[in-house]
Amino acid sequence: MRRPFMAANWKMNKTVSEALDMATELKELVSDVEDVDMALCSPATNLYPLKNLLKDTKIALGGQNLHYKESGAFTAELSTDMLKSVGCEYAVIGHSERREIFGEDDELINLKMKRAVAEGITPILCIGEKLEEREAGKHFARVKFQLAADLSGLEAEDVEDIVLAYEPLWAIGTGETATPEQAEEIIKYIREELARMYDEETAEKVRIQYGGSVKPWNVKEIMEQPNIDGALVGGASLEAESFSKIIKFEEQ
Ligand code: PGA
Repeated sequence: MRRPFMAANWKMNKTVSEALDMATELKELVSDVEDVDMALCSPATNLYPLKNLLKDTKIALGGQNLHYKESGAFTAELSTDMLKSVGCEYAVIGHSERREIFGEDDELINLKMKRAVAEGITPILCIGEKLEEREAGKHFARVKFQLAADLSGLEAEDVEDIVLAYEPLWAIGTGETATPEQAEEIIKYIREELARMYDEETAEKVRIQYGGSVKPWNVKEIMEQPNIDGALVGGASLEAESFSKIIKFEEQ
């Protein structure tokens, strides 16, 4: 069985003191959570202090990006060693904001995926279509293309441990969510595509999150879908109370 996985994507939010305040509150609110994996994907400046605060808890840490080279002249970039040294188990890769605003293409994302997997950081690979692609009925083709390009060269044994996040661009930060049925339809398709690219067993192991305006009030219905294993949460992950409610989706 796949364990549910709820990840916060804080984007460019929170100073160190704000991050520590939120995490202190969250740690109490989720101290009784046993069956859900949780992670805070924070701006890099907060990771080391968060590592110290969260060391005896089940709340894991993630970066929001990484560079595919080991080290060197790459001003402002972060290596996998740097992320590991501040306690990161995860890194978000290929978020649509990186793709759209910072021009990351699938070739670059694939290099980052290979680096993460080789260095023992679990990637949370974001894929998803734009509004015009959905309206033109091209959303299945879009995610199929992204899977093939972003996972190119990775073996089944690498892929079974990664996390995918299906995030339709039109639902991110807009308050507009895909309906649970729309999300399930395409996430099921993603799993079938993984089975075609690798095999059934691998496809069954991969955890696939939904992301895009997940809130405490809609998370239960989303999590009731058989192929949806968790959520990647932006806005509603900034406050401890709302993120803890998402983590405890069964109680909503
Ligand atoms: P949102 O962001 O929850 O604010 O829509 C999700 C994401 O971008 O990962």
